[in-house]
Amino acid sequence: MSWTRVCEIDDVEEEDVIGVSVDGQDIAVYRDEDGGFHASEGHCTHERMLLCEGLVMDGIIECPKHNGRFRITDGKAMGAPVTVDLRTYPVKVEDGEVHVDLG
Ligand code: FES
Repeated sequence: MSWTRVCEIDDVEEEDVIGVSVDGQDIAVYRDEDGGFHASEGHCTHERMLLCEGLVMDGIIECPKHNGRFRITDGKAMGAPVTVDLRTYPVKVEDGEVHVDLG
């Protein structure tokens, strides 16, 4: 595993998402309603909209451009217009900081 610190836990509110850039790569970091953290590639698989501009509700990120929806735990595309799943990354929280394994 190759962990990269991406933010502090307080940087992401519950049921929200932020965008971070790691070595020029856009990553979306989510916090679910139970306080759990998840991470995926930063752009929608439909037309590359930045997902950090979207809305998180009930464990789903909704893309702001055409309302495509993905499950934040595993990136599953939930139906048209999105058909390709998001790539997701392992996340761990340590000492109040969020780390992502970008592989
Ligand atoms: S760009 Fe995200 S649904 Fe079209």
